[in-house]
Amino acid sequence: MNTTDNSHLQFAREYALDRDCTTLSRHVLQQLQSFAPEAQDLSAIMNRIALAAKLIARRLSRAGLMEGALGFTGGINVQGESVKKMDTYANEVFISVFEQSGLVSRLASEEMEHPYYISENRPTGRYTLLYDPIDGSSNVDINLNVGSIFAIRQQVGTDANATAEDLLQDGHKQLAAGYVLYGPSTMLVYSIGKGVHAFNLDPSLGEFILSAENVRIPDHGPVYSVNEGNFWQWDEAIRDFIRYVHRHEGYSARYSGALVGDIHRILFQGGVFLYPGTLKQPQGKLRLLYESAPLAFLLEQAGGRASTGSQNLLDVLPDKLHSRTPLIIGSKDNVAMVESFIEERAREREEKMVGRS
Ligand code: AHG
Ligand code: MN
Ligand code: MN
Repeated sequence: MNTTDNSHLQFAREYALDRDCTTLSRHVLQQLQSFAPEAQDLSAIMNRIALAAKLIARRLSRAGLMEGALGFTGGINVQGESVKKMDTYANEVFISVFEQSGLVSRLASEEMEHPYYISENRPTGRYTLLYDPIDGSSNVDINLNVGSIFAIRQQVGTDANATAEDLLQDGHKQLAAGYVLYGPSTMLVYSIGKGVHAFNLDPSLGEFILSAENVRIPDHGPVYSVNEGNFWQWDEAIRDFIRYVHRHEGYSARYSGALVGDIHRILFQGGVFLYPGTLKQPQGKLRLLYESAPLAFLLEQAGGRASTGSQNLLDVLPDKLHSRTPLIIGSKDNVAMVESFIEERAREREEKMVGRS
């Protein structure tokens, strides 16, 4: 080999080293093709989210061996749900990684009634982080997969009061969104409005390394993911859809109890996840600002869709911080099919009304 021939080195860089070295923060900068302050900010924010994810993953992996990591705190959160120790821990982790960051001055989470302000970041922090620290907390104590969900929004104005009305905006206003899946390996999947990208935590490096770029969800998939225990609490149209998949070949039910896990499967393999309204909770269970809207943003970026059944989910305006919304999300053909059952029942209702008048 001639000493000036460096092609073997180039090969290594292109095919081996680059794959191992595309870290999350580097990827964000590559995506934005810029070193402008906004790009540096987003990259730094993603890096801090990654740090939170690593801390949570570490605690989850040792929770069964630790004193005081599992079980309930005895408290009830603003959602009226019993709080797990892991919910509180993860909530605090997200706050602490953003302290002294100068990036995010406000955090809003499922576990906090009001947004939390990091006063030292106030003068410079131009962003708000919305998050579900532990999604699927019923899985924590039995060592099954859970997740975290996040969205980044531009801070509008300087609203310093607890109502945070400037946050009550539609899902198109999200700058970035994603989730972390704490499964057999920890994965982080994100979008900054330029496609969807997945990273795996390499424990030997302590870094999230790019594992799938520009993920596209199939237009149609076999999975339907819904809590069928609520069957008799749903609207007839949702029951029509479920009866349809029961009577046709090619559908499989998968429901893990953690939205992040179910969405992850659907993102990679296609299908539809539903959490419709019920008699007890007409708006369903899932929270718009830090569960449904971030995942809707992500799946749309992958070529999928999200709907409330009658409205594009990203168009929904929350009326309060902890607003809930029905969610139908996944492959675009599957979502359209659920919507068609809903439209059919609405048409029937209208015809009956007209007949009566
Ligand atoms: P969280 O643990 O953040 O409260 O979210 C739980 C959510 C979601 O992850 C899951 O899909 C759904 O609740 C499960 O609810 P059901 O037990 O009512 O099916
Ligand atoms: Mn959740
Ligand atoms: Mn949660």
